[in-house]
Amino acid sequence: MDTLNVELGTRSYPILIDAGLIGRPDAPLYLPALTASPGRRRIIEVILPDGEAHKTLATAARVLDVLVANRFGRDCALIALGGGVVGDLTGFAAACYQRGVAFAQVPTTLLAQVDSAVGGKTGVNHPGGKNLIGAFHQPALVVTDTRTLATLPARELRAGLAEVIKYGLISDAALFGWLEAHLDELLAGAPAALAHVIRRSCEIKAAIVGRDEREAGERALLNLGHTFGHAVESATAYKEWLHGEAVGAGLSMAAAMSRECGLMTGDEAERVRRLVERAGLPTRIASVTPAAVLEHMTPSWRLTTRRPRSRARSPRTADERRERRPRHR
Ligand SMILES: NC(=O)c1ccc[n+]([C@@H]2O[C@H](COP(=O)([O-])OP(=O)(O)OC[C@H]3O[C@@H](n4cnc5c(N)ncnc54)[C@H](O)[C@@H]3O)[C@@H](O)[C@H]2O)c1
Ligand SMILES: [Zn+2]
Repeated sequence: MDTLNVELGTRSYPILIDAGLIGRPDAPLYLPALTASPGRRRIIEVILPDGEAHKTLATAARVLDVLVANRFGRDCALIALGGGVVGDLTGFAAACYQRGVAFAQVPTTLLAQVDSAVGGKTGVNHPGGKNLIGAFHQPALVVTDTRTLATLPARELRAGLAEVIKYGLISDAALFGWLEAHLDELLAGAPAALAHVIRRSCEIKAAIVGRDEREAGERALLNLGHTFGHAVESATAYKEWLHGEAVGAGLSMAAAMSRECGLMTGDEAERVRRLVERAGLPTRIASVTPAAVLEHMTPSWRLTTRRPRSRARSPRTADERRERRPRHR
């Protein structure tokens, strides 16, 4: 078993990575194996509705209601078994219940194993924007069972690869080269190749979070490709593209912009585009115009103002722009 540490003083925690940590490879769902672990603790299961659309305050309230109804004290712990949606929401419920109880991340998607389970960003979406309501709350433990990826749909696996490509670009040229050489193994779900990228991704994220837990500076590197990516997700109402797919397109758009600004050579930008494309991710989004991307990069709470939606979304005159700008500085 691989063990890494996220070093955050008294809030440090281990990431355990291995195949078969929580269940058998033939287990279609991993919950029975997890709850059957020995011990005298009382375990209550809460099955959450599936999908990004349910990463809401209402779903978090359901979890909190169960905790209250069962009179759990501050010594309880929540276990987030699932993808990034379950991890973000459970972590948020743990941050809120009695002003903060412990929680463990047991990520079961590639995206959650390489990214969302580590680092303590928890939260839910609001109609006004993605992840608008949340808290920094570090897990006490991350348990990554790589065997859970055996049941993950191929499209979800590819989405997770976008975040891995991101780590190569922000911090590890050797990882980027390794991905170019071994991408086919990853796409075929080869356990050794997956274990390698999960470990390396967690190392990179743990180091960055350890230096900048609350994104005062360096942690923003982890948002590479996300300015474009979030705009694509928002412009398509979170329905057309998975988060990782939007990030794939965002990485290639960021590379193209870097080339235009003279910060990357044409060859380098093309290497990024080609790797994203080979990973089966979009490199451009034909259905979203550049103007729409720009518009959706604006702060999301603008969409919640009482202005008529069309007017709030498309400032047409210089006057309007001037009127708005100071509010969002
Ligand atoms: N907190 C962070 O730092 C952070 C970082 C990146 C992304 N995120 C968040 O993560 C979310 C996306 O996470 P995701 O990509 O894991 O999506 P997800 O949680 O929606 O999971 C994707 C799908 O895979 C299914 N699934 C999960 N594990 C499975 C398995 N082992 N076998 C078969 N099916 C399985 C889920 O039921 C779901 O239908 C977004 O809400 C995003 O905002 C958070
Ligand atoms: Zn992301």
